Amino acid sequence: MRILIAALLSLSLATPVFAAGDSEHPKQMPWSFDGVFGTFDRQSAQRGLQVYREVCAACHSLNRVAFRSLTGIGFSAEEVKALASEYSVMDGPDDEGEMFERAGKPSDKFVPPYPNEKAARALNNGAYPPDLSLIIKARPDGANYVYSLLTGYEDAPADMQMNEGMSYNPYFSGQQIAMAPPLSEGVVSFEDGTEATVDQMAKDVVNFLQWAAEPEMEMRKKMGVKVMIFLLVMTILFYLAKQRIWRNLH
Ligand code: HEC
Repeated sequence: MRILIAALLSLSLATPVFAAGDSEHPKQMPWSFDGVFGTFDRQSAQRGLQVYREVCAACHSLNRVAFRSLTGIGFSAEEVKALASEYSVMDGPDDEGEMFERAGKPSDKFVPPYPNEKAARALNNGAYPPDLSLIIKARPDGANYVYSLLTGYEDAPADMQMNEGMSYNPYFSGQQIAMAPPLSEGVVSFEDGTEATVDQMAKDVVNFLQWAAEPEMEMRKKMGVKVMIFLLVMTILFYLAKQRIWRNLH
C-alpha cells in the first residue's frame, strides 16, 4: 500500500516543467486567424512580408510561394508585378543552351538565398535554415511557436554549457539554436507608421507565414460554416417531416 501511494505521489510530482522535447511551451497569443470565423490580418501580413524580405530572406527560402498569390493579402496586380520585377530569376536554357537571368514575373516563386543546402549550411554554422513556406504547419502550435521563438531569446543560464556560435532560446528543442536573434528594434521601418518593435515584427511575420502556409484558410472556414448551417437547416426539416409522417400513428 505504501509503495502504491509513493508511486502515485511520484507520478503526480513528475509533471514535467517543459512540455514536448524539453523546450518551453509556446506563449499563447490571440491571432485573428484563430477560431471558426478566423480571418487574416492583411495589414499585419503585409508588414510581415516586409520583415521576411528585409530580414529572414537573407537565410530562409520561401520556395512554395508565388508572387502572384500575394494578391491574397491585399496587394494589387500592379504591386505584385513591381515586387516580382525586383528579383532576378534564373531561367533557360535559351536557344544556345545557356541559362540566363531575367527580372522576376508574378508567376515566379520567391528566390532562395542559397543555391543549395550545402551552401546554406556552410554559411550558418553547419545548421540549415529551413524553408519557411510551411513552417507554421510543420511545427506543433506553429504560429505561437514561431512567435515565441522570435521573441524568446535570453541569456543562457549560468550552468548551461553553450556551444560555439549558438544562442540560448528556451522555446527551441535543446535550447541551443544556430540562428542568432534575427529581430532587433527598428531593424525594418514600416511605411504605415507602425512601430517596429521586436514583438510587433514577430507578430507580423507570423501573420504572413500563417497565410503562406495556408492561403486557402478563409475559404475553408467559410465553407465549414456554410456546411454547418446547411446541416442545421436539414436537421430541422427532417425533424418536422418526421413529426408530420408519424402524427396520425400516435
Ligand atoms: C542569419 C541567418 C538567419 C536569419 C536572418 C534568420 N534565420 Fe531563422 N534560422 C537560421 C538557422 C541557421 C536556423 C536553424 C537553427 C538550428 O537548427 O539550430 C533557423 C531556424 C529557424 C526556424 C526553425 C526553428 C525550428 O523549430 O527548427 C524558424 C521558424 C526561423 N528560423 C524563422 C526565422 C524568421 C521568421 C526569420 C526572420 C524574422 C529568421 N528566421 C531569420 C538562420 C537565420
